Amino acid sequence: MRHLISPLDFSVSEIESLLTLASDIEKNRPKYAHACDGKKLATLFYEPSTRTRLSFESAMLSLGGSVLGFSSADSSSASKGESVSDTIQVISCYADICAIRHPKEGAALVAASKSSIPVINAGDGGHQHPTQTLTDLLTIHSLKGRLGGLTVGLCGDLKFGRTVHSLIHALIRYCGIRFVLISPPELRIPDYIRENVLDAAGIEYRETTNLEDAMEELDILYMTRVQKERFFNEEDYIRMKDCYILDAEKMKNAKPDMFVLHPLPRVNEISVEVDDDPRAAYFRQVQYGVYIRMALILTLLEVNCPC
Ligand code: CP
Repeated sequence: MRHLISPLDFSVSEIESLLTLASDIEKNRPKYAHACDGKKLATLFYEPSTRTRLSFESAMLSLGGSVLGFSSADSSSASKGESVSDTIQVISCYADICAIRHPKEGAALVAASKSSIPVINAGDGGHQHPTQTLTDLLTIHSLKGRLGGLTVGLCGDLKFGRTVHSLIHALIRYCGIRFVLISPPELRIPDYIRENVLDAAGIEYRETTNLEDAMEELDILYMTRVQKERFFNEEDYIRMKDCYILDAEKMKNAKPDMFVLHPLPRVNEISVEVDDDPRAAYFRQVQYGVYIRMALILTLLEVNCPC
């Protein structure tokens, strides 16, 4: 039995198989409509979510399966003090696979250690968000035709943004990846990622506070919101929340085939006027999230692909 806790739980060739399966699902959805008949997905969300939870539900329903779960800690027995370890042992009796989001780093790993069904990490604190990363890889591959040989700008809250941490881990495995890390000094990428991941792998990157200047060299611009819920005081959040706003003026400096991604939710960091630019790919990214989660569910449940 396999779990997905970190983006590195799948090898490069397994990721390639997932992307291929997701692309086939995109082109041939009816073929998969009954692939998970009789199977149940549990969504255990101790933190708010729109996309991740509902795209998992949409994915399972599109495969013919059914879904159960809770969308906040308050509406579960966590509010009475039940541990993640106990909860997962209970959920293992109710479902065939589960996706868990929790504010504490490592919660999904704890769940996996006690689970008798596959566990998918749907975000653990500021740590990792591997299914967002799979979504991002599918989006980049679909738009650019490759995952290597790209200059990727990561902009915004690089300290607390778990999607950025996961994406860096995943992309460094492809040749010719270069990063431009755009953030205020207070929200720089954590030292452990800079030193243990980027430097250790000999990845080319530069850090800057200036989005305008970086625009022209990027193949992908990955915008992120400032993660209000991870700040210790509101004053700091208010000071930094609008540190970057991508607008039509800044887009003039970008390559014609550069694409803008964002894991969403967006707050202020991308002006709505950018939505009409054909290079704005963040809503297409949402759709890719359903296809890749369908592929992931099929893979972890070891369902044979229908012909
Ligand atoms: N991208 C993402 O994780 O969105 P949600 O928080 O809405 O799930």
